[in-house]
Amino acid sequence: MSKTALVTGASAGLGLELAQLFAADKHDLVLVARRRERLDALAARLTAQHGVTATVIAADLGEAASPQRIADELGARGIEIDFLVNNAGFGITGAFVELDLRRQLEMVQVNITSLVHLTGLLVPAMVARKSGRILNMGSTAGFQPGPFMSVYYASKAFVNSFTEGLAYELRGSGVTATAMCPGATLTEFGEVSGNARSRLFQIGAMPAAPVARFAYRAMMAGKVVAIPGLRNKLGLQIQRIGTRKMVRAVTARLNRVDRALTSRTSSGT
Ligand SMILES: NC(=O)c1ccc[n+]([C@@H]2O[C@H](COP(=O)([O-])OP(=O)(O)OC[C@H]3O[C@@H](n4cnc5c(N)ncnc54)[C@H](OP(=O)(O)O)[C@@H]3O)[C@@H](O)[C@H]2O)c1
Repeated sequence: MSKTALVTGASAGLGLELAQLFAADKHDLVLVARRRERLDALAARLTAQHGVTATVIAADLGEAASPQRIADELGARGIEIDFLVNNAGFGITGAFVELDLRRQLEMVQVNITSLVHLTGLLVPAMVARKSGRILNMGSTAGFQPGPFMSVYYASKAFVNSFTEGLAYELRGSGVTATAMCPGATLTEFGEVSGNARSRLFQIGAMPAAPVARFAYRAMMAGKVVAIPGLRNKLGLQIQRIGTRKMVRAVTARLNRVDRALTSRTSSGT
Protein backbone atom coordinates (compact mmCIF):
# COMPACT_ATOMS: atom_id res chain seq x y z
CA MET A 1 0.00 0.00 0.00
CA SER A 2 1.35 3.43 -0.90
CA LYS A 3 2.26 5.83 1.87
CA THR A 4 1.72 9.59 1.97
CA ALA A 5 4.15 12.38 2.88
CA LEU A 6 3.06 15.88 3.82
CA VAL A 7 5.80 18.40 3.02
CA THR A 8 5.48 22.01 4.12
CA GLY A 9 7.47 24.56 2.15
CA ALA A 10 7.36 22.34 -0.94
CA SER A 11 7.33 25.24 -3.41
CA ALA A 12 11.11 25.85 -3.24
CA GLY A 13 14.49 24.77 -1.92
CA LEU A 14 14.79 21.81 0.42
CA GLY A 15 11.05 21.11 0.55
CA LEU A 16 10.85 20.83 -3.22
CA GLU A 17 13.88 18.52 -3.28
CA LEU A 18 12.36 16.36 -0.53
CA ALA A 19 9.04 16.12 -2.39
CA GLN A 20 10.92 14.80 -5.42
CA LEU A 21 12.65 12.15 -3.30
CA PHE A 22 9.35 10.91 -1.84
CA ALA A 23 7.82 10.75 -5.32
CA ALA A 24 10.83 8.87 -6.71
CA ASP A 25 10.18 6.24 -4.02
CA LYS A 26 6.51 6.08 -5.13
CA HIS A 27 5.09 7.81 -2.08
CA ASP A 28 2.01 10.00 -2.52
CA LEU A 29 2.32 13.63 -1.48
CA VAL A 30 0.52 16.52 0.11
CA LEU A 31 2.30 19.71 -0.90
CA VAL A 32 1.91 22.78 1.33
CA ALA A 33 3.14 26.37 0.83
CA ARG A 34 1.68 29.77 -0.10
CA ARG A 35 2.59 29.81 -3.82
CA ARG A 36 -0.15 27.61 -5.22
CA GLU A 37 0.94 27.88 -8.86
CA ARG A 38 4.36 26.43 -8.01
CA LEU A 39 2.76 23.60 -6.04
CA ASP A 40 0.32 22.83 -8.88
CA ALA A 41 3.19 22.66 -11.38
CA LEU A 42 5.24 20.42 -9.06
CA ALA A 43 2.25 18.13 -8.40
CA ALA A 44 1.61 17.75 -12.14
CA ARG A 45 5.29 16.98 -12.81
CA LEU A 46 5.61 14.42 -9.99
CA THR A 47 2.42 12.66 -11.09
CA ALA A 48 3.60 12.53 -14.71
CA GLN A 49 7.12 11.36 -13.83
CA HIS A 50 6.39 8.91 -11.00
CA GLY A 51 2.68 8.07 -11.17
CA VAL A 52 2.06 9.26 -7.59
CA THR A 53 -0.93 11.21 -6.30
CA ALA A 54 0.08 14.73 -5.29
CA THR A 55 -2.47 16.90 -3.47
CA VAL A 56 -1.93 20.64 -3.19
CA ILE A 57 -3.00 22.58 -0.11
CA ALA A 58 -2.08 26.24 -0.44
CA ALA A 59 -1.72 27.67 3.05
CA ASP A 60 0.03 30.48 4.86
CA LEU A 61 1.65 28.96 7.94
CA GLY A 62 2.14 32.47 9.28
CA GLU A 63 -1.59 32.40 10.04
CA ALA A 64 -2.56 30.67 13.28
CA ALA A 65 -5.60 28.93 11.75
CA SER A 66 -3.69 27.22 8.91
CA PRO A 67 -2.56 23.97 10.61
CA GLN A 68 -6.15 23.14 11.68
CA ARG A 69 -7.41 24.00 8.18
CA ILE A 70 -4.81 21.66 6.66
CA ALA A 71 -5.78 18.86 9.07
CA ASP A 72 -9.48 19.42 8.27
CA GLU A 73 -8.78 19.25 4.54
CA LEU A 74 -6.83 16.00 4.99
CA GLY A 75 -9.72 14.57 7.01
CA ALA A 76 -12.28 15.62 4.39
CA ARG A 77 -10.24 13.95 1.66
CA GLY A 78 -9.56 10.84 3.75
CA ILE A 79 -5.78 11.26 3.55
CA GLU A 80 -3.64 9.68 6.29
CA ILE A 81 -0.12 11.03 6.74
CA ASP A 82 2.75 8.57 7.14
CA PHE A 83 5.62 11.07 6.78
CA LEU A 84 5.34 14.58 8.21
CA VAL A 85 7.99 16.99 6.95
CA ASN A 86 7.85 20.30 8.81
CA ASN A 87 10.20 22.18 6.51
CA ALA A 88 8.60 25.60 5.84
CA GLY A 89 10.56 28.40 7.40
CA PHE A 90 12.37 31.66 6.83
CA GLY A 91 14.85 34.00 8.45
CA ILE A 92 15.39 37.75 8.66
CA THR A 93 18.78 39.43 8.92
CA GLY A 94 19.41 42.55 10.98
CA ALA A 95 19.42 43.87 14.51
CA PHE A 96 16.28 42.84 16.39
CA VAL A 97 15.36 46.39 17.41
CA GLU A 98 15.65 47.62 13.82
CA LEU A 99 13.54 44.93 12.19
CA ASP A 100 9.80 44.85 11.61
CA LEU A 101 8.35 43.26 14.77
CA ARG A 102 5.27 41.97 12.95
CA ARG A 103 7.46 40.05 10.50
CA GLN A 104 9.53 38.58 13.33
CA LEU A 105 6.39 37.37 15.07
CA GLU A 106 5.30 35.84 11.77
CA MET A 107 8.63 33.99 11.73
CA VAL A 108 7.92 32.59 15.20
CA GLN A 109 4.50 31.50 13.94
CA VAL A 110 5.87 29.72 10.85
CA ASN A 111 9.11 28.29 12.26
CA ILE A 112 7.79 27.28 15.68
CA THR A 113 4.06 27.50 16.38
CA SER A 114 2.74 26.03 13.13
CA LEU A 115 5.36 23.27 13.31
CA VAL A 116 4.24 22.29 16.81
CA HIS A 117 0.58 22.65 15.84
CA LEU A 118 0.84 20.40 12.76
CA THR A 119 2.84 17.86 14.75
CA GLY A 120 0.20 17.84 17.47
CA LEU A 121 -2.60 17.40 14.94
CA LEU A 122 -1.01 14.67 12.81
CA VAL A 123 1.27 12.60 15.04
CA PRO A 124 -1.34 11.05 17.40
CA ALA A 125 -2.75 9.08 14.44
CA MET A 126 0.77 7.84 13.61
CA VAL A 127 1.23 6.69 17.19
CA ALA A 128 -2.15 4.94 17.09
CA ARG A 129 -1.06 3.14 13.90
CA LYS A 130 2.38 2.45 15.45
CA SER A 131 4.03 3.76 12.31
CA GLY A 132 5.31 7.10 11.07
CA ARG A 133 8.26 9.39 10.43
CA ILE A 134 8.63 13.06 11.35
CA LEU A 135 11.30 15.29 9.79
CA ASN A 136 11.61 18.73 11.37
CA MET A 137 13.85 21.25 9.64
CA GLY A 138 16.08 22.66 12.36
CA SER A 139 19.49 24.10 11.62
CA THR A 140 23.08 24.32 12.77
CA ALA A 141 21.87 27.82 13.71
CA GLY A 142 19.97 26.14 16.52
CA PHE A 143 23.13 25.23 18.41
CA GLN A 144 24.24 28.78 19.33
CA PRO A 145 22.91 32.32 19.69
CA GLY A 146 22.91 34.26 16.40
CA PRO A 147 23.33 38.03 16.72
CA PHE A 148 21.79 39.82 13.70
CA MET A 149 19.49 36.83 13.17
CA SER A 150 18.58 36.46 16.83
CA VAL A 151 14.96 35.37 16.43
CA TYR A 152 15.78 32.99 13.58
CA TYR A 153 18.57 31.24 15.51
CA ALA A 154 16.36 31.02 18.59
CA SER A 155 13.54 29.55 16.49
CA LYS A 156 15.86 26.82 15.23
CA ALA A 157 17.10 26.14 18.78
CA PHE A 158 13.45 25.47 19.59
CA VAL A 159 13.04 23.10 16.62
CA ASN A 160 16.22 21.17 17.40
CA SER A 161 15.35 20.85 21.09
CA PHE A 162 11.66 20.06 20.62
CA THR A 163 12.47 17.36 18.06
CA GLU A 164 15.11 15.68 20.22
CA GLY A 165 12.74 15.62 23.17
CA LEU A 166 9.90 14.29 21.05
CA ALA A 167 12.15 11.60 19.54
CA TYR A 168 12.97 10.37 23.03
CA GLU A 169 9.31 10.28 24.07
CA LEU A 170 8.44 8.32 20.92
CA ARG A 171 11.01 5.55 21.49
CA GLY A 172 9.40 2.16 20.94
CA SER A 173 6.21 3.68 19.49
CA GLY A 174 6.97 2.87 15.85
CA VAL A 175 7.17 6.62 15.14
CA THR A 176 10.47 8.50 14.85
CA ALA A 177 11.37 12.18 14.88
CA THR A 178 14.45 13.59 13.16
CA ALA A 179 15.92 17.06 13.64
CA MET A 180 17.60 17.91 10.35
CA CYS A 181 20.27 20.57 10.91
CA PRO A 182 21.65 22.01 7.67
CA GLY A 183 24.21 24.78 7.60
CA ALA A 184 24.16 27.40 4.85
CA THR A 185 22.45 25.84 1.82
CA LEU A 186 21.83 27.24 -1.67
CA THR A 187 18.06 27.75 -1.85
CA GLU A 188 15.87 30.86 -1.89
CA PHE A 189 16.58 31.21 1.85
CA GLY A 190 19.59 33.52 1.37
CA GLU A 191 17.58 36.03 -0.67
CA VAL A 192 14.43 35.80 1.45
CA SER A 193 16.38 36.27 4.69
CA GLY A 194 18.66 38.99 3.35
CA ASN A 195 21.57 36.81 4.44
CA ALA A 196 22.93 35.77 1.03
CA ARG A 197 25.70 38.38 1.21
CA SER A 198 26.73 37.51 4.76
CA ARG A 199 30.16 36.02 5.51
CA LEU A 200 28.41 32.77 6.41
CA PHE A 201 27.12 32.32 2.87
CA GLN A 202 30.29 33.75 1.28
CA ILE A 203 32.43 31.12 3.06
CA GLY A 204 30.47 28.46 1.23
CA ALA A 205 27.02 26.92 1.11
CA MET A 206 26.02 23.36 0.20
CA PRO A 207 23.79 22.67 -2.83
CA ALA A 208 20.21 21.79 -1.89
CA ALA A 209 19.98 18.34 -3.52
CA PRO A 210 22.61 16.50 -1.40
CA VAL A 211 21.31 18.20 1.77
CA ALA A 212 17.79 16.97 1.00
CA ARG A 213 19.06 13.45 0.24
CA PHE A 214 20.89 13.44 3.57
CA ALA A 215 17.70 14.55 5.35
CA TYR A 216 15.60 11.95 3.57
CA ARG A 217 17.93 9.08 4.46
CA ALA A 218 18.26 10.26 8.08
CA MET A 219 14.48 10.43 8.46
CA MET A 220 13.96 6.99 6.90
CA ALA A 221 16.66 5.58 9.20
CA GLY A 222 14.99 7.19 12.23
CA LYS A 223 18.10 9.22 13.15
CA VAL A 224 17.42 11.78 15.89
CA VAL A 225 19.86 14.54 14.83
CA ALA A 226 21.21 14.86 11.30
CA ILE A 227 23.98 17.31 10.38
CA PRO A 228 25.09 17.26 6.74
CA GLY A 229 28.59 18.20 5.53
CA LEU A 230 32.02 18.05 7.12
CA ARG A 231 32.28 21.84 7.43
CA ASN A 232 29.04 22.00 9.44
CA LYS A 233 30.08 19.12 11.70
CA LEU A 234 33.53 20.65 12.29
CA GLY A 235 32.03 24.08 12.97
CA LEU A 236 29.90 22.65 15.75
CA GLN A 237 32.85 20.78 17.28
CA ILE A 238 35.02 23.93 17.26
CA GLN A 239 32.27 25.82 19.10
CA ARG A 240 32.45 23.34 21.94
CA ILE A 241 36.03 24.34 22.77
CA GLY A 242 35.28 28.08 22.57
CA THR A 243 33.71 30.22 25.27
CA ARG A 244 30.08 31.32 24.90
CA LYS A 245 31.31 34.92 24.54
CA MET A 246 33.60 33.92 21.68
CA VAL A 247 30.84 31.96 19.95
CA ARG A 248 28.49 34.97 20.08
CA ALA A 249 31.16 37.24 18.59
CA VAL A 250 32.07 34.83 15.77
CA THR A 251 28.42 34.23 14.86
CA ALA A 252 27.79 37.98 14.80
CA ARG A 253 30.66 38.39 12.33
CA LEU A 254 29.37 35.56 10.16
CA ASN A 255 25.83 37.00 10.03
CA ARG A 256 26.87 40.60 9.58
CA VAL A 257 25.48 42.20 6.45
CA ASP A 258 26.52 45.87 6.38
CA ARG A 259 23.26 46.98 4.83
CA ALA A 260 21.34 45.32 7.64
CA LEU A 261 23.45 46.99 10.31
CA THR A 262 23.01 50.50 9.02
CA SER A 263 19.40 50.13 7.90
CA ARG A 264 16.78 51.91 9.96
CA THR A 265 13.92 50.77 7.77
CA SER A 266 11.25 48.33 8.86
CA SER A 267 11.39 46.36 5.62
CA GLY A 268 12.40 43.16 7.37
CA THR A 269 15.80 42.75 5.63
N1 LIG B 1 19.00 27.40 3.19
C1 LIG B 1 19.67 27.40 4.33
O1 LIG B 1 20.80 27.92 4.43
C2 LIG B 1 19.06 26.72 5.53
C3 LIG B 1 19.92 26.29 6.57
C4 LIG B 1 19.38 25.68 7.68
C5 LIG B 1 18.01 25.47 7.76
N2 LIG B 1 17.20 25.88 6.75
C6 LIG B 1 15.75 25.68 6.89
O2 LIG B 1 15.30 24.87 5.84
C7 LIG B 1 13.90 25.10 5.63
C8 LIG B 1 13.63 25.28 4.16
O3 LIG B 1 14.25 26.45 3.72
P1 LIG B 1 14.97 26.58 2.31
O4 LIG B 1 16.39 26.78 2.56
O5 LIG B 1 14.53 25.50 1.39
O6 LIG B 1 14.39 28.01 1.87
P2 LIG B 1 13.45 28.45 0.66
O7 LIG B 1 14.02 28.01 -0.64
O8 LIG B 1 13.24 29.93 0.87
O9 LIG B 1 12.08 27.67 0.92
C9 LIG B 1 11.25 27.99 2.00
C10 LIG B 1 9.93 27.29 1.84
O10 LIG B 1 9.11 27.63 2.99
C11 LIG B 1 7.86 28.10 2.52
N3 LIG B 1 7.30 29.11 3.40
C12 LIG B 1 7.89 30.25 3.85
N4 LIG B 1 7.00 30.98 4.55
C13 LIG B 1 5.83 30.28 4.55
C14 LIG B 1 4.54 30.53 5.08
N5 LIG B 1 4.25 31.66 5.74
N6 LIG B 1 3.57 29.61 4.88
C15 LIG B 1 3.83 28.48 4.19
N7 LIG B 1 5.03 28.20 3.65
C16 LIG B 1 6.01 29.10 3.82
C17 LIG B 1 8.14 28.70 1.14
O11 LIG B 1 6.96 28.65 0.33
P3 LIG B 1 6.07 29.91 -0.12
O12 LIG B 1 6.97 31.10 -0.19
O13 LIG B 1 5.51 29.48 -1.43
O14 LIG B 1 5.02 30.01 0.94
C18 LIG B 1 9.19 27.73 0.60
O15 LIG B 1 8.56 26.63 0.00
C19 LIG B 1 13.56 26.33 6.49
O16 LIG B 1 12.92 25.90 7.68
C20 LIG B 1 14.92 26.93 6.81
O17 LIG B 1 14.91 27.65 8.01
C21 LIG B 1 17.70 26.49 5.64
